Amino acid sequence: MAKRMRDIEPSPTLSITSLAKKMMTEGKDVINFAAGEPDFDTPEPIKKIAKEAIDTGFTKYTSSSGIAELKDIICAKFKRDNRLNYTQDQIVVSCGAKHSLYNVFQVLCNPADEVVLIAPYWVSYPEMIKMAGAKPVVVKAKESDGFEVPISALKKAITKKTKAIILNSPSNPAGVTYSLKELEEIAEIVVSNKIFVISDEIYEKLIYDEKKHVSIGSLGGGIYKQTITVNGVSKSYSMTGWRIGYLGADSSIIKEISILQSHSTSNPTSISQKAALGALQLPKKAIDDMRAEFENRRNCMIKRLDEIPSLTYTKPSGAFYVFCNIQKTGFKAQEFAKNLLEEKLVAVIPGEAFGFDDHVRLSFATNIEKINEGMDRIKEWLKQ
Ligand SMILES: Cc1ncc(COP(=O)(O)O)c(C=O)c1O
Repeated sequence: MAKRMRDIEPSPTLSITSLAKKMMTEGKDVINFAAGEPDFDTPEPIKKIAKEAIDTGFTKYTSSSGIAELKDIICAKFKRDNRLNYTQDQIVVSCGAKHSLYNVFQVLCNPADEVVLIAPYWVSYPEMIKMAGAKPVVVKAKESDGFEVPISALKKAITKKTKAIILNSPSNPAGVTYSLKELEEIAEIVVSNKIFVISDEIYEKLIYDEKKHVSIGSLGGGIYKQTITVNGVSKSYSMTGWRIGYLGADSSIIKEISILQSHSTSNPTSISQKAALGALQLPKKAIDDMRAEFENRRNCMIKRLDEIPSLTYTKPSGAFYVFCNIQKTGFKAQEFAKNLLEEKLVAVIPGEAFGFDDHVRLSFATNIEKINEGMDRIKEWLKQ
């Protein structure tokens, strides 16, 4: 096997999720707080467009960086939702935002380049950076700061080798949403150090407490050219299995990613591209309703967590996870997750995956009834 793979860990979130799914297919009554995907079905109008695509024979190779029609809709979306002006030659459509991010690291990073990321971070960032031969530089955010990274710590992490900073707002797993002021400060660091910011905005629609999502690339002062804005349809439209992600960036970056993609995956699935076209044109109400339901679920989960003194948390203002501190339980995260799944059939993700071994991630992408049932089980288990 290639030396390159020696240092790459399997995705721990996918492994616990597939174990929970396996147990469910065996008929076990598992409450899945490990899920990284909405439990809603893909909306009907999206499925209808996909069915039409199949029936009309839209089943062949497309342009490898995505169909022009979809790129146009993505440009309109960026303009409407994010105040970002991109043209078709600044867009690549890929097989999920994960693939978009993978492509970015592959085309930007040289060996020994450093990429700065903020912990707790999404599991795949460090491994993707390593797969590109570069070095992840982790800046740990403190729970006492609401998991927001102090700007001074971020500044300190920048060296001559830094190629980019990854920003994920709202974030997985802590649900951190950066304010305009913080984004302006980060933008200032990026511009003054002549590096890139890779802005993963996959959870932009799932934002609570009247907070507003701001795209860092839309701030003035030169940051636009140094921003790669990544997004996708997985989380906002309940389309995780369709595998469509996209990014907007300077056309010089797009050119390289298009070449890379043309020799690796070629186009993302033709039918899914049509489905994404439908998703990005759905009436706003469909997304608003889903967001409101997620906010109810978050409120329910944190209310129930308040009944368990040994679990503490920082209230998430976005995404669909609560990152819980389990220090007071005396367990390490792996042990906590394993025992809870075996003894009470509740699946959670151990925090090691995100750079914190004294935390677990609970997903509230499941209905209120299940949230209550799962929280009852956790409460009882910890009492025992
Ligand atoms: C922060 C973050 N970015 C990107 C992704 C990738 O999403 P997808 O590849 O399904 O578009 C995920 C999925 O869990 C995520 O949590």
